[in-house]
Amino acid sequence: MSAAESGANKIFIGLLGYGTVGSNVYNLIQDQAVEIAQATGATIVIKKILVRDITVPRQDAPAGLFTDNFGDILDDADITVVVELIGGIEPAFDYITSALEKGKAVVTANKQLLSQQGFYLFRLAREKETQIRFEASVAGAIPVIRVLRESMVAADLTSVYGIVNGTTNYILTEMRRTGAKYQDALANAQEWGYAEADPTEDINGNDAAAKMAILASMAFHTAVVLDDVACIGIEHISALDISYARNLDLTIKLLGVAKLYDNKINVRVYPALLKKDHPLASVSGAYNAVFLKGNSIDEIMLSGPGAGGMETASAVVSDIVSIIARGTPGVLEDIAAWRELEFFPDDEVVSKFYLRLEVEDEPGVLATIAQVFGDHDVSVESVIQQGRGAHAELVMVFHPVKEASFREALEKIGELPVVKSIPRPIRVEGDGYEQ
Ligand code: NAP
Ligand code: HSE
Repeated sequence: MSAAESGANKIFIGLLGYGTVGSNVYNLIQDQAVEIAQATGATIVIKKILVRDITVPRQDAPAGLFTDNFGDILDDADITVVVELIGGIEPAFDYITSALEKGKAVVTANKQLLSQQGFYLFRLAREKETQIRFEASVAGAIPVIRVLRESMVAADLTSVYGIVNGTTNYILTEMRRTGAKYQDALANAQEWGYAEADPTEDINGNDAAAKMAILASMAFHTAVVLDDVACIGIEHISALDISYARNLDLTIKLLGVAKLYDNKINVRVYPALLKKDHPLASVSGAYNAVFLKGNSIDEIMLSGPGAGGMETASAVVSDIVSIIARGTPGVLEDIAAWRELEFFPDDEVVSKFYLRLEVEDEPGVLATIAQVFGDHDVSVESVIQQGRGAHAELVMVFHPVKEASFREALEKIGELPVVKSIPRPIRVEGDGYEQ
C-alpha cells in the first residue's frame, strides 16, 4: 500500500472562492485523486472553503466545508496550502499576505493582484521560506509560466507575444464567424465562465495587460508592473472594422506584445490586424496562444484553452502538485528579477496601421488627407473609398512607420473639418516588418 493510499501523507488545502474556477478545482481534485496520489505520494484534502455567503446552496462540496471567516483557514495548522480564487485586490492581498506570513504555501490565479503586488508577495514567500505559485494567472490551461520559469532559463528571450485573453478572442471570433452582435457574444462568454467578474477588465485590455506584465517580468527577469503596460482594448472595434478586415483578408485579434529593443523593454496590449496565414489568426474562441522568441530557441508557440473553469482548475491543481513535489523553495520559486531594464518608448516602435475614417464626400478630401500623412513621412499602402450617403468612408493601410510620426499625423487629421469621426487606428502585424 502506498503512503497516499494509507492516508499517511495528506495535504490539507484551504480554498478561497467557490465560483467558476474554485468549484472546478474542488471537483478536479476529487476526480483525479488517484492520479495525483500516484504522482505525488500524497492525498490532497480540501479542508475548508471560504465564500462570501454560506447560506447559498453549493453543488458538489458538502455544506460543512464552507465558511465565511478567513480566520478558520488561517488558524488551522493542518492547512499548509491556501488556494486563492476570489479575485480582485482586497481582501485577496490581505489573505495571501497573512497565509504567507504564517508560512503556508499559496496558489493563486489572480493576475490583477500579481501584476500590482506580485514582487512584494514573491519576496515575502522567499523570506518565509514558502512558495507562491500562479500558473493559472496567465493563459488558462497553457503551462506558459512553468515553461518560462524552468525551460527558458537559457533561451535568451527577445520577445513574448500572443493572445492572452480568452473572452475578447471569443467575442472577436464570434463577431467574425457568425456576425454575432458584440453584446450577445459577451453574454455568451460570461455564460461559459470565460469573463472576469467585471468583464470591463477583459474588454478594455486590462486583464491582458496584467498577464503581459507577469509574462514580461519572467521572460526578461526585470520587474514589470501593470502600470508599465500601455493598453488598448476592443471597445472601439466595430462590426464595420471586422467586415473591412475580412475584405482585406485580415483578422482582428487582441495581442499582448513584450519585446526587447536594444536591451530596453516595451510591453503593450492592442488590437491588431493579422494576415489570414499568420499562426495567431487561426487561434479562435477562448483559446490563447503565446509565442516565445529567443536567441537560443528561435521560436516556440504554446496554445490551448485560455479561460474556462475546468481548464483553469487544471493549472491550479498543477501548482498544488508542484508544491507537494518541491517541498522547499529554490530560485525558481519566485520571479527572478535580477536586473533592471530601461523601457523602450512606444513612440519609437515601428508599426504598420489600418485606419477607418469617416469624411465629407467632396472633391479633394483624399488629397488633403494624403498631404497631411505625407508631411509626416507616413506613406499610404492602400486605400478603399466607399460612399455612405453624405459621407464617405476611407479605409487606409499604411507602410510601416515610427509610431510618433503616425500619432502626430493623426492629431492633424482629426483637426481637419472634412473628417467626421475621431480616427481610431488598428495595428497590422505579421507582415515581416516587425523589428
Ligand atoms: P467567480 O466565479 O466570480 O468566483 C469568485 C468566488 O470567490 C465566489 O465563490 C465568491 O463567493 C468568492 N469571493 C469573492 N469575494 C470574496 C470575499 N471577499 N470573501 C470571500 N469569498 C469571496 O470568479 P472565477 O471566475 O472563479 O475567478 C476566480 C479567480 O480566477 C480570479 O482571480 C480570476 O481572474 C481568475 N481566473 C479566472 C479564469 C476563468 O476562466 N474564469 C481563468 C483564469 C483565472 P460567493 O460564491 O459567496 O459569491
Ligand atoms: N477573463 C480571462 C480571459 C480569464 O477571458 O482570458 C482567463 O484568465
